[in-house]
Amino acid sequence: MTFTGQQQTLLILGASGDLTARLLLPGLGGLLADQEESDLLLVGSGIEDWDDDRWRTTVGDSFAEEGAKGELLDRVAAEAVYLKADVTDAGDLKQLLGACRGQITVYFALPPPVTVKACEALARIELPGDTRLVMEKPFGTDAESAKALNDLVTGLVPEQQVYRVDHFLGLSTVLNIVGLRFANRVLEPLFTSDHVESVDIIWDEDLGLEGRAGYYDWAGAMVDMIQSHLLQVLALVTMEAPTSMGPRDFRDSTAQVLRATRIWDDDPVKFSRRARYTAGRLGDRDLPAYADEDGIDPARKTETFAEIVLAIDTWRWSGVPFRVRSGKSIGSPRKQAIVTFKQPQWTPVGLAGTDRADQLRIGLGFGADELHLDLNINAPGNPLELDPVTLSAGFGAGDLHEYGQVLRKVLEGDPLISVRGDTAVECWRIIDPVQEVWREDQVPLGEYAAGSAGPEGWPEHGLPPS
Ligand code: BG6
Repeated sequence: MTFTGQQQTLLILGASGDLTARLLLPGLGGLLADQEESDLLLVGSGIEDWDDDRWRTTVGDSFAEEGAKGELLDRVAAEAVYLKADVTDAGDLKQLLGACRGQITVYFALPPPVTVKACEALARIELPGDTRLVMEKPFGTDAESAKALNDLVTGLVPEQQVYRVDHFLGLSTVLNIVGLRFANRVLEPLFTSDHVESVDIIWDEDLGLEGRAGYYDWAGAMVDMIQSHLLQVLALVTMEAPTSMGPRDFRDSTAQVLRATRIWDDDPVKFSRRARYTAGRLGDRDLPAYADEDGIDPARKTETFAEIVLAIDTWRWSGVPFRVRSGKSIGSPRKQAIVTFKQPQWTPVGLAGTDRADQLRIGLGFGADELHLDLNINAPGNPLELDPVTLSAGFGAGDLHEYGQVLRKVLEGDPLISVRGDTAVECWRIIDPVQEVWREDQVPLGEYAAGSAGPEGWPEHGLPPS
């Protein structure tokens, strides 16, 4: 399906903000560069005193930054409209909707509390029945508030018109996990507790705060990454095969496995850890301690590193620990899902050598679009000795950036890669117990130097990190 030929309006609330210029408009540029034709009106709205010209320049610059050019892009930029509005005011919203034509998609590029207020204001006016709503993370602040927000938005439009964006699902490398598991007969039979020792989902990045203190100090690594993105990656690695890649089948499969997921031993004190970075050198930059960064309130004790161990109560996965972790300002970035296999049940006497575990390492995009399979086989010299080898393959980065992919799906009206309401609640339900014990200070806030490999190991919980 394509949105070409259909008259559409993309209404961006928060058009003068950072997300719009940095991610949305370049994503849209890449997407439009791919279309032969499109009748898309781009309406931007914000509290800034911008005019059409200022907005059109922003749009044109963002398209150019993406290297996206052509007649269609020029036309979309030239016709773009900017309206100053208070998006929490029903009257202003009505006016904004009045400036739209055709199928309307409202993108809330706003801080989450403002998004909630804008939805409350939308409830006071009439919305065209086919309106689509696109919301950024985090969706709620815990399971209860996510449920309430679901009620609010599904009071505005039906669930299938609500797009809760997870740009990780827009990464083709992440979606490739589905083909890797279910489009061949080699790997999938091994994805069970009979063969798998443990699984790690790791997002250790060398990015620091990048000017997002206001948001990040409120979210922290657990909400920013684990709740919002990595649990979806976990779902792809562990779900049962969906019957189709239709949004219903696919999202049923991810929802089912996340419903069975919980903190290991139901012990969030023992099976979670948190830390924040102290001053250090990251690449060629000297970073201050997180607590000394501009706009940070150290008393909030926000973590820049979070790790949890999860259990999945299913026939397939019972007994297998899943470690999920993410850290900022890490000197040795790693973005991988790692499946560690059990040792063979028997190795012929006389074969000696390595006891390194076999692993499948799936790169999670952003320059890590690779797949590696580490296996123990005979050494090239003495065939009675064992030697590890690695089989590697590239995944290919996909034809669009993740936000282009997200917008493509939204404008096509396909919620495949957006998080369904029940799943958003489940992801909070999984981490809520951890958030609670962290708030109560039952888990110490550790430290690691910016530019280091992250906090020291975690031997005390009995499931050492691999
Ligand atoms: C974002 C997080 O969603 O994902 C950031 O808020 C993180 O903290 C980022 O750095 C990683 O993804 P990307 O697409 O920005 O590399």
